[in-house]
Amino acid sequence: MGAQRTAAVAGDPEVEPGGAATRALLEPILGELEEFERRLEAAVDTDLGPMADAMSHIVRAGGKRIRPALVILSAQLGRPSMDHVYDLAMGIEFIHTATLVHDDLIDRSPTRRGMSTLHRTMGAAPAIIVGDYYFAKGANLISEIGDPVIDSAISRTVMTICLGELLQMTSKDDYRQSLADYHRKIERKTAALVATCCFGGGAVGRLDPAQLAALRNYGHHLGMAFQIADDLLDYVATEEELGKPVGADLREGTVTLPFMLALEEPGVGEELSRVIEHLPLSDPDYEQIVDLVRRSGAVAATERAAQDFAAAARADLSHFPDSPARRTLEAACDYVVDRRI
Ligand code: IPE
Ligand code: IPE
Ligand code: MG
Ligand code: MG
Repeated sequence: MGAQRTAAVAGDPEVEPGGAATRALLEPILGELEEFERRLEAAVDTDLGPMADAMSHIVRAGGKRIRPALVILSAQLGRPSMDHVYDLAMGIEFIHTATLVHDDLIDRSPTRRGMSTLHRTMGAAPAIIVGDYYFAKGANLISEIGDPVIDSAISRTVMTICLGELLQMTSKDDYRQSLADYHRKIERKTAALVATCCFGGGAVGRLDPAQLAALRNYGHHLGMAFQIADDLLDYVATEEELGKPVGADLREGTVTLPFMLALEEPGVGEELSRVIEHLPLSDPDYEQIVDLVRRSGAVAATERAAQDFAAAARADLSHFPDSPARRTLEAACDYVVDRRI
C-alpha cells in the first residue's frame, strides 16, 4: 500500500511514535503495553489479506495508546484477569482507530499519526468498510470477556460518539455556539470513550460500584481535559508535532474552545467578529483567525480550562488507596494538559 510517513518526527525511528512524554508516563506499565502490542498485531494479522493490510499501517504507526493504558491501569486498581484486560484494551483501541478512520474521511484529513490516511491511500468506500469492520471487531473481542455490563457500556459509548460527531457536523460554521454546546460535543465524541476505558478496566478488575462510578468520573474529566488540550494543539502546535495539519478544525468549520474564548476577549473579539462576518471563509481568513487566537489570552484561558478538568480527574482518584497504578493515573492528569502530541 502506498502509505507514506510525512511528518519528520513520526518518520524518525529514533523517536517513539507516542512521544517521549507518553513513554515516561507509561513506563510503569511498559511490560503490559508490550504484551498489548504483541496481541494487537496478532489480532490484526488474523484478518484476511486486504483487511489486515489496510489496518496494519495505521495500527503499527502507533499512536499514544492512552486508552489501552487507562484500561490496564484502571484494572490494576483491582484484581483482574489479564486476558480480559487485554481483550478490553484491544477492543477499545480498535474502536478508537475506527473512529479515527471515519473522522479523517469526514474531515478530509490527509495525514494521521504521521502517515497518509486510509481514505487517501485506499479511497473513501474502503475506508468506510474498514472502519465499520473494526467497530465490530472491537466489540467482538470485548464480548470474549462475557460481561454484559461491559458490552452494554461499549455499544452505548459508540452510539454516543456517533451522536457527538453528528452534532459537530450539524453545528459546522456555528461560530457563536455556547460553552454548554461545546462541552456536550466533546463529552460525546471523546470523554465518553475515555470514561468507558476506566469504567470497563475497573469492572474487569472487579471493583465495587462506588469505585466504578469514581473511575467513570475520572475518565470523563480526563477525557474532557484531553480533548480541550487537543483543540488547543490544533491552534498552537506544529504539523510535525501533530502528525496532521494545523488549524484543521477551523478549516472544517469545527468551532472549539480557543476560538470561543478569543471571541469573548475585548479587542480580539471584535477583530474576529469582522473576519467571520462574511462566509464562506477564505484561506487568508483562516490564517488571520489562527493568528489572532494564538496572540490572544484565549491560549492561557483554554489551558486553564483543561487544567480545571484535570484537577477534577485527580480528585476522583481519592476513592482509591495509594498504589503504583493510582500514581500513574494521577500523573496522567498532568500529562493530558502538558502534552504536545
Ligand atoms: C485522537 O486521539 C482523537 C481525539 C479524541 C483527540 P489520540 O490523540 O489519542 O490519538 P492517537 O491514538 O494517539 O493517535
Ligand atoms: C476526534 O476528535 C474524535 C473522534 C474521532 C470521535 P478530533 O476531530 O478533534 O480528533 P483529531 O484532532 O482529528 O485527532
Ligand atoms: Mg478530526
Ligand atoms: Mg482535534
